[in-house]
Order: sequence, then structure tokens, then C-alpha cells
Amino acid sequence: MFLLVLSLLLPQPTLDFDYYKTNVEPIFVAKKAGFTRCVVCHSEGGRVGFLEELPAGAENWSDEQSRLNFEAVSRLVTPGDPSGSRLLMHPLEPDAGGDEFHNGGRQFASQDDPWFQALEAWVLGQAGQ
Ligand code: HEC
Repeated sequence: MFLLVLSLLLPQPTLDFDYYKTNVEPIFVAKKAGFTRCVVCHSEGGRVGFLEELPAGAENWSDEQSRLNFEAVSRLVTPGDPSGSRLLMHPLEPDAGGDEFHNGGRQFASQDDPWFQALEAWVLGQAGQ
């Protein structure tokens, strides 16, 4: 109870754009062996289309698109609460605490996965490059 009250009183960490741009967004275009890149499934619009379409032939988004991605991706996390953040839990192996099913597979094998850790740091308010 005390902790609950405390967490309601403490200010929530802020999601930092520079950290996102340097450490989080590259995850969405990176290829992990045996899996499809996030951008392939998540830039098609619809309910789960939280990424902009990559410009034709490009491997990265324009700054303006990154801003839009940042807005959309921010809605998939709860600042200060990694385990309450769908972006972290959905692709995470269920044995490591992740959600039961993700159409895109269990791309984070454990909470020690470097991608998981980059997302976790962002959600906890890490700032900078
Ligand atoms: C093969 C296609 C595919 C790939 C690759 C893929 N996903 Fe998904 N993802 C889906 C589909 C389809 C859903 C919705 C159904 C479900 O929950 O599985 C989904 C759901 C999600 C959700 C929940 C969205 C919501 O609004 O509830 C998140 C978060 C997510 N994916 C993140 C990722 C991340 C991060 C990656 C890359 C590491 C990734 N996905 C790769 C197809 C994919």
C-alpha cells in the first residue's frame, strides 16, 4: 500500500526523443535471425500499424516520420512501468514474463535481450543519445 501511494506521488519518467531515435527506433528495422523485421508487419496501417511506411528504398525514416513513430510507439508503453508496457511484453518470451501470443514471434528471448534492455531503459526515462 505504501509503495502504491509512493508511486502515485512520484513524478512519472518522461519518454526521451533522442534516446528513442538512437536506441529504440533502430530495433524496428533491424533483422534478428529467424524473425521478420518489426517494420514489415507494423507499418501497414490498421489496428497494429504503429510505424510509418519507410520511404521507398530507404532503411530509415525521415525526422518527421520519426516524430510520428515516437508519438505512436509512446502509446504502447507506460512510462516507469516496463512490465505494464505492451511494446516490451508482447514480443517477450512467455517464460521470461512476456505475453502468451504475438503474431510476430518471441523476438526478445529474455529480459537480458539487448533490444528488451534498450526499450526498458527508454521506458524508465533514460535520456540522451
Ligand atoms: C510477422 C508479422 C509481425 C512481426 C514481424 C512483428 N509483429 Fe508485432 N504484431 C503482429 C500482429 C499481427 C499483431 C496483432 C496480433 C497479435 O497480438 O499478435 C502484433 C501485435 C504487436 C503488439 C501489440 C500492439 C497492440 O496495439 O496491442 C506489439 C507491441 C508488437 N506487435 C510489437 C512488435 C515488435 C516490437 C516487433 C519487432 C521486434 C514485432 N511486433 C514484430 C505482427 C508482427
